[in-house]
Amino acid sequence: DAVTLEQRFQSKVDDDERIEPKDWMPDAYRQTLIRQISQHAHSEIVGMLPEGNWITRAPSLRRKAVLIAKVQDEGGHGMYLYSAAETLGISRDELLEQLLAGTAKYSSIFNYPTPTWADVGAIGWLVDGAAIMNQIPICRCSYGPYARAMVRICKEESFHQRQGFEIMMTLARGTPEQHRMAQDALNRWWWPSIMMFGPNDATSKHTAQSMRWKIKRFSNDELRQKFIDITVPQAEFLGLKVPDPDLRWDEATQHYIHGPIDWKEFEEVLKGNGPCNRERLETRRRAHDDGRWVREAALAHAEKQRARETQ
Ligand code: ACO
Repeated sequence: DAVTLEQRFQSKVDDDERIEPKDWMPDAYRQTLIRQISQHAHSEIVGMLPEGNWITRAPSLRRKAVLIAKVQDEGGHGMYLYSAAETLGISRDELLEQLLAGTAKYSSIFNYPTPTWADVGAIGWLVDGAAIMNQIPICRCSYGPYARAMVRICKEESFHQRQGFEIMMTLARGTPEQHRMAQDALNRWWWPSIMMFGPNDATSKHTAQSMRWKIKRFSNDELRQKFIDITVPQAEFLGLKVPDPDLRWDEATQHYIHGPIDWKEFEEVLKGNGPCNRERLETRRRAHDDGRWVREAALAHAEKQRARETQ
């Protein structure tokens, strides 16, 4: 009966055994994974836009080649993650429809603009840095396909983080104007990056259950704290100032203490009122429409091949 199945499922999770697509799982577990993996996949896809904005204007051929590769990696991550979500019984078409209809969530961070080249550096350093902090534990997620997809994704994210830090280093050690650009990008990306980890533990509605299911291994605040502890010394190394007047090292806990987070801003971005929410969705919809002929041509070609084979 259902209780026994659920108990058996939970003891597998407790023993760190992987749950695979054909295994029995509680419906709420399945729905939670569909929710999280689809949000994650959409984040990768929408995440291509802020940086894609700079491909045509990258300051050198080398920077352009690296940026194209990076943005392409993000597209690849989206594809793995849509595949992982499909193992739970939802189709890629459905997921895409939800994204284009504006009913699916994607990470708040990708609703901020990228007005200067330094933003490409700040995104790699901070946004991909935060993504790694959040995603390394997902390599040990109880759901097999999600955990396995995360291994390669994390390796690629770590290259992205380094390329971002290297851009920041070049700017921070460049001319006074370049240094100012780097500082300005840090000023604009710091707080949104901190918010990426999600609401604080007191208000996070899914954390407790997701931790029991070992979908999440750490709470939002724990990961946020780890990120701050690692990143503040990196900003010091760059000679840049973290835009938080309350930030201080706490000898007793061996952690940085940060100032208050503007949760109103976070809520507004989640409601669709961030600086670029509308623009991002419009761009995605346009790309989907512009790509229609490619999908149709690919289908027509596949049809023709099939017809030839059965002749
Ligand atoms: N942006 C948008 N929505 C968010 C964010 C965020 N930064 N953080 C939390 N939320 C949403 C949650 O999705 C949830 O909404 P829902 O119930 O409608 O789905 C709500 O806020 C409450 O948050 P939590 O209870 O804390 O939700 P959850 O347990 O899912 O934790 C988290 C949120 C940490 C983002 C988790 O889903 C996760 O680890 N996801 C995988 C990583 C990921 O998606 N990264 C994307 C950005 S990184 C990148 O792609 C480069």
